[in-house]
Amino acid sequence: MPFSTDTQGRDEAIIELFRATFTASEGAEEGALIGDLVRNLLASTAQQDRFVFIAEEDGAIIGGILSSRLTYEQDQRTVFVLAPVAVATDQQGKGIGQRLLNHGLAALRSAGVDIVMTYGDPGYYAKVGFKPISEADAPAPFKLQRPEGWLAQSLTDRAMSPLKGPSRCVEALNDPVYW
Ligand SMILES: CC(C)(COP(=O)(O)OP(=O)(O)OC[C@H]1O[C@@H](n2cnc3c(N)ncnc32)[C@H](O)[C@@H]1OP(=O)(O)O)[C@@H](O)C(=O)NCCC(=O)NCCS
Repeated sequence: MPFSTDTQGRDEAIIELFRATFTASEGAEEGALIGDLVRNLLASTAQQDRFVFIAEEDGAIIGGILSSRLTYEQDQRTVFVLAPVAVATDQQGKGIGQRLLNHGLAALRSAGVDIVMTYGDPGYYAKVGFKPISEADAPAPFKLQRPEGWLAQSLTDRAMSPLKGPSRCVEALNDPVYW
């Protein structure tokens, strides 16, 4: 299963993967919301502030991850938030998500990212090294609706230590509905 960051000209296929996957798992409203988020992330985020990782099979996109910069105004470290993540509904439960996440984390590490955050199911993301973190130790851009889903990991040899806020996300994520 090849992984790629070469997503040029494939925005519509990536948006559709997210829309359809989240529609199947959480309903049409959530599917539309996440589809719009991915559209905005792809359209409005500067190249240096985002990454897109995809998994392919027979030319079709079967998994995707977006990651975008989270700026901590009083902290020198480079922080990215990794979300959303989707594996096509008929491909789930085969380890693709975990392999794609490990691929994305390695790419972020190679690019010099110090800390990666995500916001999701702690049980699932623990499998790829994420641990829960409090809003006090890593302020989020908005008050979190599900603080138990706020997760972090260090990509360097240094242990995770508190991040000094406030934090600022990219424009596409700058809406409390996503937090
Ligand atoms: C969550 C998602 C990305 C996982 O991808 P996947 O390819 O199905 O996951 P994997 O096959 O790599 O799963 C690996 C392990 O996680 C477990 N797992 C899968 N989904 C899980 C969940 N929601 N919570 C806890 N564990 C989960 C699997 O049982 C498997 O366990 P094992 O390794 O012990 O057998 C995928 O199911 C998906 O796209 N879901 C809908 C959208 C979504 O919820 N995205 C995440 C929020 S941003």
